[in-house]
Amino acid sequence: MSIKIGILGLGTVGCGVVQVLQQNAKDIQTRTHCDLQIKAILDRDLHRKRDVSGDFLLTDQPEEVLHDPEIDIIIEVMGGIEPARTFILEALKHGKNVVTANKDLIAVHGHELLDAANEAGKDLYFEASVGGGIPIIAALKESLSANKITHLLGIINGTTNYILTAMAEQGREYAEVLAEAQQLGYAEANPSSDVDGLDAARKLAILASIAFNSRVALNDVFVEGISKITREDLTYAAELGCTIKLLAVAKHQDEGIEVRVHPAILPLTHPLASVNGVFNAIYVVGDAVGETMFYGRGAGSLPTGSAIVSDVMRIARNLKSNSMSSINCTCYLDLPLKSSSD
Ligand code: NAP
Ligand code: HSE
Repeated sequence: MSIKIGILGLGTVGCGVVQVLQQNAKDIQTRTHCDLQIKAILDRDLHRKRDVSGDFLLTDQPEEVLHDPEIDIIIEVMGGIEPARTFILEALKHGKNVVTANKDLIAVHGHELLDAANEAGKDLYFEASVGGGIPIIAALKESLSANKITHLLGIINGTTNYILTAMAEQGREYAEVLAEAQQLGYAEANPSSDVDGLDAARKLAILASIAFNSRVALNDVFVEGISKITREDLTYAAELGCTIKLLAVAKHQDEGIEVRVHPAILPLTHPLASVNGVFNAIYVVGDAVGETMFYGRGAGSLPTGSAIVSDVMRIARNLKSNSMSSINCTCYLDLPLKSSSD
C-alpha cells in the first residue's frame, strides 16, 4: 500500500523526519507493509541550505500540501499556535491524519484538536511533543494504562539540562551554552520558553492530563525557570554533594493534582542527578507496576524525527488494516448467499 505524506515546516525537526524516513525506508516498509512517500513540504523559505533533499515538492503555498487529495498524513513541525492550529484543523477537515510535535499547541488546544480528529474519524498523534525521542506518551496511553498513576517526576527540557550540565561540569557561562543549544537545534524558536520553564510546563500539562486522565491546564502548572541560577549556586550545590536540575513534578493525591516546574537541589545519589546534557528522564509510579523510569535524548533533529516517524507508522498500520477489513468485507459481500435449503 502506498501512503503519501505532507510536512508543514522544514526546520530542525522537519529535516530529522525526512532523514529518518529516508535512511530507514526499507525497515519502515517491512514493519508497516506500506510504502511511505513524502509528497510535499511547506516552508516559507524555499532557498535556505538544508542537509536533506528528495523527490518532493517544496512549496510556500499551504494549500498545495493541505488540499492535495493524494496526501494521507500531515506532519506539523512548524511550531507556534497559529497558523499551526488552523492548518491542523484544515488537514483533518480534508480527511488527513495528523502527527505533530507541537507542545505549545497540544498543551492549550489539545482537546479541541482531538475532538476535531474524532469527529473527522482521523488519527491525531503527538508523541514527539514530550521527551524528544522517549516514547513516554505511548507508554502512558498504552503500556501503563492498567495502572492508577500517582507520581510523575522528570527532567523534560533538553535545553535547560544542557545548560545546567555545562555550567556545573565545565564552569561555562549561561549565555554561551544557551547559544550552543540553539545552534544544535535543541532550543525553541523563542528560547525564553525553555529557560523560563514554560516548555517544561507545557509538557507537564500534557503528561499529567494523560497520566491522571484529567484536564490539566497550562495555567494550573506552577512555573519557575533557570534564569536566576548562577555558576556559584552550582558550585555551592557541588560542595554539598548535590546538583541543580529543572524538575517537573506531578502528583495525584486525594486532595487533588499538584503540578509544578522549578529548579531543585538533588543529591548526586538521586537517579535524576546523573541525567546530563540534552538527555531527559521521566520517573513514573503506578499502583500496579511500581516505579518505572524512561530515559533518552529529549531534543534534536533525529531523536524527535524518531518519535514522529513512529507515530506515522502507527497511522500507516491503521490505514493498512482499515483497507484490509474493507477488502475482507467486500469479499464477504461478494460471496453468493446460501439459501436456507442448502
Ligand atoms: P524550526 O527549526 O524553527 O523549524 C520550523 C520551520 O517551519 C522553519 O523552517 C520555519 O521557518 C517554518 N515555518 C514556521 N512557520 C511557518 C509558516 N507559517 N509557514 C511556513 N513555514 C513556517 O523549529 P523546530 O526545532 O524544527 O521545531 C518544530 C516543532 O517541533 C515545534 O513545535 C517544536 O516545539 C517541536 N519540537 C522541537 C524539538 C527540537 O528538538 N527542536 C523537539 C521536540 C519538539 P522560519 O525559520 O522562517 O520561521
Ligand atoms: N526545546 C525543547 C527542549 C525541544 O529543549 O527540550 C524538545 O521538546
